[in-house]
Amino acid sequence: MKPFFLLLAGGLVVFALGTLALSRGEAVLNRADPENTDQVARGRLVYDENCASCHGANLQGQLNWRERKPDGRLPAPPHDDTGHTWHHADEQLFRITKNGVKPPLAPEGYESDMPAFAETLSDEDIWAVLSFIKSTWSMRSLAYQERIDKSYRKQAKQK
Ligand code: HEC
Repeated sequence: MKPFFLLLAGGLVVFALGTLALSRGEAVLNRADPENTDQVARGRLVYDENCASCHGANLQGQLNWRERKPDGRLPAPPHDDTGHTWHHADEQLFRITKNGVKPPLAPEGYESDMPAFAETLSDEDIWAVLSFIKSTWSMRSLAYQERIDKSYRKQAKQK
């Protein structure tokens, strides 16, 4: 009897530690954290270098960003409160930045001027630039996005 309980207790400890490590890992890797000042500082550099040319030095987006251009494509939207970046979950923003606006986030064959950064930026750079972008949002937009992000994470877990 005794060795069995010891084994059980040991197993539980290993399980608990494993879960802890996993949830810690997720917090670092799958989240854009506007309160992480190191990430935000790194993200600002990544932004200036890779995103500002289209999304604007002050994240203001391109002129008339809601109207399609003559070629049918959309201009770059702002990343500050006046845009709709804060309507998307972290994971979706990450995928858009890494892969461009592609299915399943856009219809098949959708044409977009948003480049894919998979070849130019590391995953850490992408999380950093998203952290920087989030650091410019108002409390209201941050709270809104957090709700969207939470329900997205819940759905992703159930799949
Ligand atoms: C060559 C111009 C260009 C550059 C450079 C660029 N983008 Fe974009 N981006 C766009 C355009 C255009 C769109 C709108 C795409 C569409 O809806 O078809 C867009 C859309 C996005 C969206 C979706 C926003 C939303 O609310 O739907 C995100 C997120 C984004 N860009 C992030 C970035 C980040 C981060 C960088 C820098 C690492 C970057 N972009 C660099 C042109 C650019």
